Amino acid sequence: MPTNHPLLLSPAPSQCSLEMLAHHYGDVYEHSPWVAEAAWQHGLTDAHDAPDALAALMGLMLQQASSEQQIKVIQAHPDLAGKAAMAGELTQDSTSEQAGAGLDQCSPEEFARFEYLNTAYKEKFGFPFVIAVKGLDRHDILAAFEERLNNDPATERKTAIEQIIRIARFRLRARAEQ
Ligand code: GUN
Repeated sequence: MPTNHPLLLSPAPSQCSLEMLAHHYGDVYEHSPWVAEAAWQHGLTDAHDAPDALAALMGLMLQQASSEQQIKVIQAHPDLAGKAAMAGELTQDSTSEQAGAGLDQCSPEEFARFEYLNTAYKEKFGFPFVIAVKGLDRHDILAAFEERLNNDPATERKTAIEQIIRIARFRLRARAEQ
């Protein structure tokens, strides 16, 4: 009978120094290694060698951060189907997430729609539109984009943070599967 081995992260987060954790898992939150560092400071046990447990603790660190820190993390995200993506300037994770949702295959009209929405959204909220794109195609993403543009700023900051925590969970799971 095959046994179900839970997927674990390697290197094991519970065995990492602060520097090692930041090195290996600091990029789970876009350009924001302080989230991984805060999780280390909080204290890691071998339970956190499972991706969902580390993701939950890192998510808690972000939820407990000040609104200024949260906004900085949101602002560290690139536009969806934006110029940086076209120029190949994204992190490895962002590149594969955006391509996975087919954003690199937008028609010229769809690119123009993204450009319009990216600008309108950033003008209204002061940070880029972030959504966990796993399982979504570009039509789903455009529909969510249009809808969220109507939110008030506090709701949208909360939604963006929830989406970023979801993105980090997917990133950690993908690393445990390698
Ligand atoms: N959702 C998943 N990846 C990304 C990204 O790179 N940028 C934004 N804005 N949202 C995302």
